[in-house]
Amino acid sequence: MIKFIKVKDYQELSKVAGEIMLHQIKEKPNCVLGLATGSSPVGLYQYLIDAYKKGEVSFKNVKTYNLDEYCDLPREHPESYYSFMHTNLFNHVDIEEENVHLPSSLGKDLQKNCQEYSDALNKVTVDLQLLGIGANGHIGFNEPGTSFESETLVVTLTEKTRKDNARFFDNDINQVPTHAITMGIKNIMNAKSVLLVASGKNKAEAIYQLVNGPVTEEFPASALKKHPGVVTVVADEEACSLLK
Ligand code: F6R
Repeated sequence: MIKFIKVKDYQELSKVAGEIMLHQIKEKPNCVLGLATGSSPVGLYQYLIDAYKKGEVSFKNVKTYNLDEYCDLPREHPESYYSFMHTNLFNHVDIEEENVHLPSSLGKDLQKNCQEYSDALNKVTVDLQLLGIGANGHIGFNEPGTSFESETLVVTLTEKTRKDNARFFDNDINQVPTHAITMGIKNIMNAKSVLLVASGKNKAEAIYQLVNGPVTEEFPASALKKHPGVVTVVADEEACSLLK
């Protein structure tokens, strides 16, 4: 079931989605969260940090599993998702480093890394999976055409995704990695519940497709329509601008 929440702007999105995540942690302090990177969740993470600083919540027993990581970027690169998560959330709250998990793109045997990440995911139940959405409908880095049965995999990023992400790399597409390692769609669908956030005009087409389009591997986010639990989509006015 998709529960759709339309909000005014990015600020309201961050608050509304932040509250949903906060509620999850308060209700189950040892919950397992699936986390995303990119621009969409930054405000939400700030909301969580503020709540932590006010003493409203603790991350002491929270476990996290991130969706994805770029290949060929060292962890200490400022745009690696490992760095992103530490800069935007982990360094500011009381989470234990041993409870933080990201797919690893280190070493030569990436297939082994994929298998290990899927094995780890299959041993836990993600209580709440946070997602952004690509302008082409990708979730995690599962680009159009990825099987709904996929588990953690190495993917080639599309030109569109690399262009969209060039803003983090001095607007130079050549600096954007060509490959990434990502949870598969099956891993994402195994979460008990999902929270997808979308902000801005660049997402309007994707939100239109999500609401009105068919369930198809050509539009990865459409898999969420078959999710057995609650999928909450929080989208701002610009992201909803193509909806009636
Ligand atoms: C990030 C991820 C991606 C992003 C998507 C939207 O971990 O898996 O699917 O959520 O590319 O990115 P932003 O939020 O930067 O528009």
